[in-house]
Formats: sequence, C-alpha cells, structure tokens
Amino acid sequence: MNIVLMGPPGAGKGTQVENIREMFGKTIISTGKLLREAMRLHTPLGEQITEVMDRGELVSDDLVIELVREELKGKSDSIIFDGFPRTLKQAKVLDEIIRVDVALFLSVEDEAILRRMDGRLTCLDCGAVFHKEYNPPKTEGICSNCGGKLGVRDDDKPEVVRNRLKIYHAQTEPIIQYYQNRGIFKEVKGSESLEETTRRVFAALGVQV
Ligand code: AP5
Repeated sequence: MNIVLMGPPGAGKGTQVENIREMFGKTIISTGKLLREAMRLHTPLGEQITEVMDRGELVSDDLVIELVREELKGKSDSIIFDGFPRTLKQAKVLDEIIRVDVALFLSVEDEAILRRMDGRLTCLDCGAVFHKEYNPPKTEGICSNCGGKLGVRDDDKPEVVRNRLKIYHAQTEPIIQYYQNRGIFKEVKGSESLEETTRRVFAALGVQV
C-alpha cells in the first residue's frame, strides 16, 4: 500500500509518519526533510532553494518532482509520502509514476497550528520532531532518537508560518478535492492529543490499536 500523508504545515505529518512507518512503510519520502538536507550539505539544489524555503514558499514543481523521481527509483510499494504532493501538478505527476492507495489528510485549524509551531523542536541531525510542551524530549535540548542537538527551524518564525499557511490554503488545499474525486481520501482530525490522533490515524488505515 502506498500512502500520501497530507495536511497544513505543523499538522503533525512528520510525527505521524514515524508512528506508522513500522507497519506501513518500507520507504518514507519526506520532501521537506530531503530539501533541508540538501540545504545543510550545501548541494547545488540546496543553494538554489535556501531563500525560497526561508520565506516559507514552495520549491518549484520541477525540482521537487525530480527529487521524488530519484528517491522512487526501483521502488513501487510500501511508500509513505510526507509533504508531497503539494500542488495539483505534483499530484497528477505522482499518479503517473506510482499507484497511490490512500490520501490521509490531517486537519488542524490555523490558530492551533500557530500555537504548536511556537514550541516545535527539530533534531539538527536526524530531523526527528518534538514539542516543548506536547511531546518533550527525554533530555532537554537533546534528541531522544539519535542524541543529536535540538533546534528551531528557520521557517518556524511566526511570520513565516503565517505565509506557509497562506500558501497551503491557496496551492495545496485543492488537492483534497482531487483525491476525493479519486475515492481514496480519508480525513483524520489532527487537533486531538498526540495519542488520540495516532489512534485515529491507525483506525483510518484499518488497524485498531
Ligand atoms: P515540510 O518540512 O514538509 O513542512 P510542512 O508541510 O510545512 O510541515 P511541517 O514539517 O512544518 O509540519 P508537520 O505536519 O510535519 O508537523 P510536525 O509533525 O512537525 O516542508 C518545508 C518546506 O519545504 C516548505 O515550506 C517548502 O518550502 C518545501 N517543500 C517541501 N515539500 C515540498 C513540495 N512537495 N513542493 C514544494 N515545496 C516543498 O508537528 C508540528 C509540531 O506539533 C511538533 O512540535 C509536534 O511535536 C507537535 N504535534 C504534532 N502532533 C501533535 C498533536 N496531535 N498535539 C499536539 N502537538 C502535536
């Protein structure tokens, strides 16, 4: 089964993808993580996208589609997409490359997202996500996953988050209709507690936990 995990910035996609990866995913394709890694390593792609990412805008369809094509080479099943597709063009191209079985949408109100992003901590090494209040690491400032240092993403500044939300509503939300028309759309309320949201995500995928 191949799953597209979608939702506004900060909806909890990165958190939930870690929860479902053991049962549903051999491969996780998180375009945000891949793009941040390119920036960290100062690859030619990284140099090209830094300003766009820092403003909270979308990287061009062509660049992202190329990145995903590379990641998908030799793979066809048990893939979870996190943060891709994000435009109608990306959704249509993905359908040409691979079979998408479920589009799982985590819905969270803008106000709740702005509150959440305020306390997000991200591992500078492995990209794992925590929250000061809702999902604190075992040791302050240290990633419970790999022992790396935790920091705040450049695009988590409140004004950039507001811009990311604006762009999400304009460019990404239309994909909901696209997947509804395909009959593979499932919605989970992502504003419940972490545990309850995880339970609902599994239930939507047909597993009771
Ligand atoms: P990306 O990294 O994909 O960012 P995003 O979609 O904006 O999502 P986030 O990673 O910010 O949030 P999330 O939904 O994963 O939430 P998280 O689990 O961290 O993309 C970044 C940038 O890359 C884009 O702006 C764009 O420039 C570019 N890009 C990426 N993909 C692209 C594409 N396809 N096309 C073009 N450009 C692209 O949770 C957030 C916080 O809330 C955490 O602190 C977490 O601990 C906490 N939390 C999670 N769930 C709960 C809960 N239920 N209750 C309380 N707290 C919770």
